[in-house]
Amino acid sequence: MWQDWILQLTSGYQKKVMTKLVYVAVLTVVQLGVYVSPLGTWMNLGFQGIDILRNPQAYLLGTRPLCTQLAGLSRGQTKLCYLYRDHIAHVGHGAQLGIAECQWQFRYRRWNCTTVDDSSVFGPVLNIASREAAFTHAISAAGVVHIISRACRDGQLSNCGCSRALRPKNLHRDWIWGGCGDNIEYGYRFTEGFVDVRERENNYMRGSTEQGRKLMNLHNNEAGRRAVIRKTRVTCKCHGVSGSCSLVTCWQQLATFREVGDHLKDKYDGATEVRINRRGKLQLKNPHFNIPTAEDLVYLEESPDYCVNNHTTGSLGTYSRECNRTSPGTDGCNLMCCGRGYNTHKAVLKERCKCKFHWCCYVECKTCTKVVDRHTCK
Ligand SMILES: *[C@@H]1O[C@H](CO)[C@@H](O)[C@H](O)[C@H]1NC(C)=O
Ligand SMILES: *[C@@H]1O[C@H](CO)[C@@H](O)[C@H](O)[C@H]1NC(C)=O
Ligand SMILES: *[C@@H]1O[C@H](CO)[C@@H](O)[C@H](O)[C@H]1NC(C)=O
Repeated sequence: MWQDWILQLTSGYQKKVMTKLVYVAVLTVVQLGVYVSPLGTWMNLGFQGIDILRNPQAYLLGTRPLCTQLAGLSRGQTKLCYLYRDHIAHVGHGAQLGIAECQWQFRYRRWNCTTVDDSSVFGPVLNIASREAAFTHAISAAGVVHIISRACRDGQLSNCGCSRALRPKNLHRDWIWGGCGDNIEYGYRFTEGFVDVRERENNYMRGSTEQGRKLMNLHNNEAGRRAVIRKTRVTCKCHGVSGSCSLVTCWQQLATFREVGDHLKDKYDGATEVRINRRGKLQLKNPHFNIPTAEDLVYLEESPDYCVNNHTTGSLGTYSRECNRTSPGTDGCNLMCCGRGYNTHKAVLKERCKCKFHWCCYVECKTCTKVVDRHTCK
């Protein structure tokens, strides 16, 4: 069912790619080598969120100039904030969802998506145009699509409601298309406007590092939004007397966000290295690789190894991270500790055990303790 819509999107995307070509180089002082940390990021809404999310009414009523007080928004995002006030708490939820998923997906890796306590959210380490930066852009855009699409369906936003997606052509003809579906069309469009505007409002010299980063961010934001679309499916429900299923209604439904996260983690593993050329377009670094689609992640710079704490790059290092002595993977002590070795200490683990089922209906357990070895990086 998504085919038609994706086609429309794709042609829209190509048009955008074309217009990128037309960007004229506007006087920008390019400071080579120094990437000055920008004002912060809208993802910070997921944290200040705490206040907006708990008390959205205070902001809606306009008793204070909400939008200019939110750290991390760009000029265009501040304007959109005023136009779509009731969306902002949801954008914050979307950012939180994306960040939490990022931390889950990277929990066994050296870089584990740690957030810092300022409006840059992830700290200076993401000033490097790495795969990790690519992933954070994609997952947070995806988080916003997810939350906004669902909020529309649930009637929480004034300008959208149930999805109005067309009936899929291959749906069984006796089935009814018309349950209230997640409004991914709206979620996609709103997120595109809100998240991408901060990139679009800056013009950089064609072929510059900054322009490269802008195109990279736009590409990865789109890949994140598409991940939500890709995982969306048609869901149906039986009605009728005692499960007779005489009536079937169907609607489009978001996948769980974990599925979106798994999908984007695969895209991270297969991300493509690109570079910005003099004509101001991204091109493959290695011409033998496949050209990335709009659903793939792209990055411009190799990642640091994230082994040691470095204030300049913002890498936290893996000192005192827990590792697994026998695992050959990224959580294994060898990789996690970068060959520095590890300390072993005993830890007491409490768990429920010897559970008994009592008729009817509860389970009674004892608490057992056992001593296990824990390993942490030197
Ligand atoms: C921190 O990273 C910078 C940039 O990669 C590097 O030049 C510097 O030597 C690093 N410092 C330490 C203490 O590793
Ligand atoms: C992530 O890494 C940081 C520093 O390396 C560490 O303090 C933190 O506990 C880690 N988080 C998780 C969930 O492992
Ligand atoms: C450590 O890794 C091994 C091999 O991958 C796995 O079987 C084991 O469950 C892991 N242990 C812990 C505590 O995660």
